[in-house]
Amino acid sequence: MTIKENPSAQLTPNKKGGSLRGRFSEATDEFVQVFTASIGFDQRLYREDIAGSIAHATMLQRIGVLTEDECATIVSGLTSIQEEIENGELTWRIELEDVHMNIEHRLIELIGDTGKKLHTGRSRNDQVATDIRLHLRAAIDMLVEQQGRLLTALADLAEANADTIMPGFTHLQAAQPITFGHHLMAWFEMLRRDRERLLDCRKRVNQLPLGAAALAGSPYLPDREFVAELLGFDGICENSLDAVSDRDFAIEFCAAAALSLTHMSRWCEEMVLWASQQFNFITLPDRFCTGSSIMPQKKNPDVPELIRGKTGRVNGQLITLLTLMKGQPLAYNKDNQEDKEPLFDAIDTLSNCLTALIGMVPNIQANKAVMLEATLKGFTTATDLADYLVRKNVPFRDAHDLVGKAVQLAASQGKGLEELSIEELNGPDTTVIEPDVYQVLTLHGSVATRDHLGGTAPNQVRQAITRARALI
Ligand code: ARG
Repeated sequence: MTIKENPSAQLTPNKKGGSLRGRFSEATDEFVQVFTASIGFDQRLYREDIAGSIAHATMLQRIGVLTEDECATIVSGLTSIQEEIENGELTWRIELEDVHMNIEHRLIELIGDTGKKLHTGRSRNDQVATDIRLHLRAAIDMLVEQQGRLLTALADLAEANADTIMPGFTHLQAAQPITFGHHLMAWFEMLRRDRERLLDCRKRVNQLPLGAAALAGSPYLPDREFVAELLGFDGICENSLDAVSDRDFAIEFCAAAALSLTHMSRWCEEMVLWASQQFNFITLPDRFCTGSSIMPQKKNPDVPELIRGKTGRVNGQLITLLTLMKGQPLAYNKDNQEDKEPLFDAIDTLSNCLTALIGMVPNIQANKAVMLEATLKGFTTATDLADYLVRKNVPFRDAHDLVGKAVQLAASQGKGLEELSIEELNGPDTTVIEPDVYQVLTLHGSVATRDHLGGTAPNQVRQAITRARALI
């Protein structure tokens, strides 16, 4: 079994084995030391752990448990430990189990007996819950900022393509003409909701567990409001048992991350299709594509493919966390140590995928002529012709039938609807179609008619972009 992440972590268990051994008659089994340790992955929480400890010490002074001098010594010890960690000078020790015990142990080494007072009225149970919440809060702030940048890139690309005609699809069959800008703004809507979900989740993440101690609270009567204020929490977990055992904030985050990646995955699937020679609607920037080891001509859309693939991973982390919690009685159980790797991986994966899209989207080139040609080929104004007939008092179902016949005729001659004569368009059953029909059959005419909130008309796309920019 190996310890991941920090190459400077001591890989070998200690023969004398483990801390907190007062009540035991033998050292911790060497395998058990490795099996139960979390230092390989929870060292990532060192900043939050130190910030939480400084706030806790400050509160202990305020309620008279620590003197001013003791508190100052602890704070300066913790500050230098942070420097040691950031300079790569602290060796994490596996027999000290986790980031909390490693830091506390180092504090005692540095400042002596005063360091032993820090853990008064606190447990690793409320400590770790506080650390994770602080860490996730910072992660959400970073992700929301990234989402904002991606949304801006999307709005910019949509603006440049507010008039670009393309076929809109249902069943992946050309359906009706739309504007590429409108299509891009559909992705904007999804990603905007993803951002709102993270911001909403942040409210429930940002509640303070510290003060719950092991599970029952603390006889020192901690000033929890004061700690919450020092650490920037919006509120306090109101029940000590819930405070130490709850991980639903992490589950909620992973659910939001999974949904966000699901949206990004769908979008990437489109990019993969559209960048293919068969569609050729868009060209992806070369620096976001890779070559083939055997086929010299290949330009593979690896980045969007990988984002599509990484979605499975984050969906998996969500299931991991849900399953982790489902059998746990109150309050803290060691199972909870398993919450970190899935959560960290979900954060990192979402962040990396956002970084990739932020770099790629501004450099996506729309192949406007190809999109236009594809729209012309697909009889995409057939519905507009039916609507024209309705305006000439033909009931919609009859209109649908008449247009179907015109499409059949045009297809058999390899023509577009706009290339049929008035006689051909009317067919044997009607005479209501007149030369003004050709305005209806143009693509620009078709999109311009959808000029209402949510419609594809360029005018509406521009208004949607203005509203969007005000949101970001
Ligand atoms: N490393 C532990 C975790 O991540 C810290 C809490 C340990 N608490 C305990 N009662 N053993 O959950």
